[in-house]
Amino acid sequence: MSGDDDVVLEQYKPDKTYNKQKRFDCENKTINKFVSGSLKKQIRQKLSQCFVLLDTNNADRFIGFYTLSAFAINASDLEALSAGSLPSRIPCSRLIMLGVDKNYKGRGLGKRLMKSVFLKTIEAAEKIGIYGLFLDADEQAYTFYLDHGFIALQKKVKTKPTPMFLHIDTIRAAFRDSA
Ligand SMILES: CC(C)(COP(=O)(O)OP(=O)(O)OC[C@H]1O[C@@H](n2cnc3c(N)ncnc32)[C@H](O)[C@@H]1OP(=O)(O)O)[C@@H](O)C(=O)NCCC(=O)NCCS
Repeated sequence: MSGDDDVVLEQYKPDKTYNKQKRFDCENKTINKFVSGSLKKQIRQKLSQCFVLLDTNNADRFIGFYTLSAFAINASDLEALSAGSLPSRIPCSRLIMLGVDKNYKGRGLGKRLMKSVFLKTIEAAEKIGIYGLFLDADEQAYTFYLDHGFIALQKKVKTKPTPMFLHIDTIRAAFRDSA
């Protein structure tokens, strides 16, 4: 088993062939299918950007990733934040997919990916208006996101993903604390 120094994070290049990308298994069928079948195309179409974790001690095996895009949510969806008066559409970044291969879970790599998501959102917010970070949390990852400071925008129900949000100021504070 490799140490964390042997795991690098790099921007996904759609023209590069990644070792075991098609064998990636984070135990979420939808995400696995996306990685093996749709990731390359989505990046080529500029619909999101992707960052990947590679195990340099195991022939640069593809072991984790996330995709991030621009997004807009309705101000009415942010009522849980008591944000006061806002325009009707709110610009934000969106974490679309996140996964760590089952053989590498529990080693802090999910946390490392989230730190990168926060950093990319902060960097983008310095160039264009970004009010915060949005995501739809699957049941299995809901607590993971709560622990990262996200607030549920709707009551959690078992049958569908829960929309969650993190304000840009909270992201900046979390990033400073973890730096
Ligand atoms: C969620 C996921 C990315 C976490 O990756 P990971 O590398 O195992 O996470 P880490 O080792 O960095 O864990 C960081 C912390 O989160 C906790 N954690 C990990 N997975 C968790 C989960 N599913 N739910 C709640 N807490 C979780 C860990 O116990 C750890 O807590 P600690 O800091 O108190 O020790 C990974 O389990 C995964 O790929 N899941 C399947 C795909 C998925 O659900 N993606 C999200 C879809 S919305």
